[in-house]
Amino acid sequence: MESKKFDPKKLAKLNDPRRLEFLDPDLMWRTLDLESPDVLIDIGAGTGFFASIFSGKLKDGKVYACDILDVMIEWMKENLPAKSKGKVVPVRMEESSVPLPDSMADLVYMINLHHELDEPMKVLGEAFRLLKGKGRLMVVDWKKEETPEGPPIEIRLTEDAVEDQMRTCGFKGIKRHPGLPYHYFLTGEKP
Ligand SMILES: C[S@@+](CC[C@H](N)C(=O)[O-])C[C@H]1O[C@@H](n2cnc3c(N)ncnc32)[C@H](O)[C@@H]1O
Repeated sequence: MESKKFDPKKLAKLNDPRRLEFLDPDLMWRTLDLESPDVLIDIGAGTGFFASIFSGKLKDGKVYACDILDVMIEWMKENLPAKSKGKVVPVRMEESSVPLPDSMADLVYMINLHHELDEPMKVLGEAFRLLKGKGRLMVVDWKKEETPEGPPIEIRLTEDAVEDQMRTCGFKGIKRHPGLPYHYFLTGEKP
């Protein structure tokens, strides 16, 4: 079977600003409406494209940008823009575990990751562990329908399936947000 994992040879694609036309970080940030967040964790950060953007929205905080691939971690260390240095912290994680302490984050988010996960419940469990009480989870991934680009439909998950997984992992107040043309956008809260 072909791998579900992102091919790092396509790394440059992750930095294509045209992605912002259909994955609008300002819409995500406005919708999240977090109260003075200072710790964000990006699981499946890739080149830190979104970690860098979200770090610019923090007054005085950090985004831990986690990925399983050394090539992504090294890329971030060498290429993150100057304004993100110190604010975006690259973290090499294992497939289903993040080497960061419990209850540290105001927001854990995953963008275009869910369809690549071997053990989505374990990763959602990690997100739950990492969040402070009342902390939020955001999952954004490709809708399971024809879109002009994106991974094969067969490996995508339905929004219903991801919502069920979030509920099973203990998240409450799960909401589905409109506004992204090719992606579902789910949030939940750690009670
Ligand atoms: C399609 S890319 C998306 C990158 C980034 N979120 C973005 O949208 O620009 C998916 C990334 O997730 C990483 N990845 C795959 N499985 C992972 C896992 N279990 N935990 C953390 N990262 C993972 C891949 O190495 C890749 O960098």
